[in-house]
Amino acid sequence: MACAADREDIAPLMDAPGSYRINIAIDGPAGAGKSTVARLVADALQYVYVDTGAMYRAVTLMALEAGLSPEDGEAIGRLAQRLHIELIPGPDGQRVLVDGRDVTDRLRTHEVNRAVARVAGFGSVRQRMVELQRAMAKGKGVVMDGRDIGTHVLPDAELKVFLTASPRERALRRYRQLGEGAGVSLEQLEREMAERDRLDEGREIAPLLRAPDARFLDTTGMGIDEVVARIVEWSREAARTFSEKEK
Ligand code: DC
Repeated sequence: MACAADREDIAPLMDAPGSYRINIAIDGPAGAGKSTVARLVADALQYVYVDTGAMYRAVTLMALEAGLSPEDGEAIGRLAQRLHIELIPGPDGQRVLVDGRDVTDRLRTHEVNRAVARVAGFGSVRQRMVELQRAMAKGKGVVMDGRDIGTHVLPDAELKVFLTASPRERALRRYRQLGEGAGVSLEQLEREMAERDRLDEGREIAPLLRAPDARFLDTTGMGIDEVVARIVEWSREAARTFSEKEK
């Protein structure tokens, strides 16, 4: 495999600690704060953030728009093959473009929320998304978050983090996000969270699993800045280790 050390233009950079570009995989259950943390880590390192959940959401949105049933795996698989999905970093976070159209603001609607787990469960859809995700990570310098990144998409990522928090803490974060007026109790959110964990861990295709070589980070009681600082530190360590190995 070609590596950064083969390229004369960037090889000198490798002498500066931490400047060797690596790939970072961040996995974990719903509500663990993966996307916020991954985006901030990418900003700190000037890496590209890849939100794989947004890609499954984009396929779901396009399938719903095309009038396909969320049960129709064959048709949705064919659709996923044709779609051109791009993730573009912007000042207000990552934008998602499908066939050149910005769909970012429509990825978190109730309809998409309801159908996405089903769509993400189709092998044909996953196969295509994984292909795109690997292509995005080819040049290194990517922070990718999801459920199967360290175990399946980027098994060679130089840093893998499994991010979690207690079901109560994750429910509390979601509760604060939704606001008091949402009409859902904290207890109900906590029950739903536990049920989603069970489904994510138990599904046949790409279940949520901790890679054996992933660093485990329980963020219960930790602030975002602290979590980000810890991962940035691990990234610098990993970059140093790998740049030594390449020399
Ligand atoms: O992280 P999120 O809520 O945006 O994810 C949306 C859905 O996609 C959720 O059902 C989990 C699924 N997903 C997945 O199966 N694999 C990934 N790598 C990322 C998300």
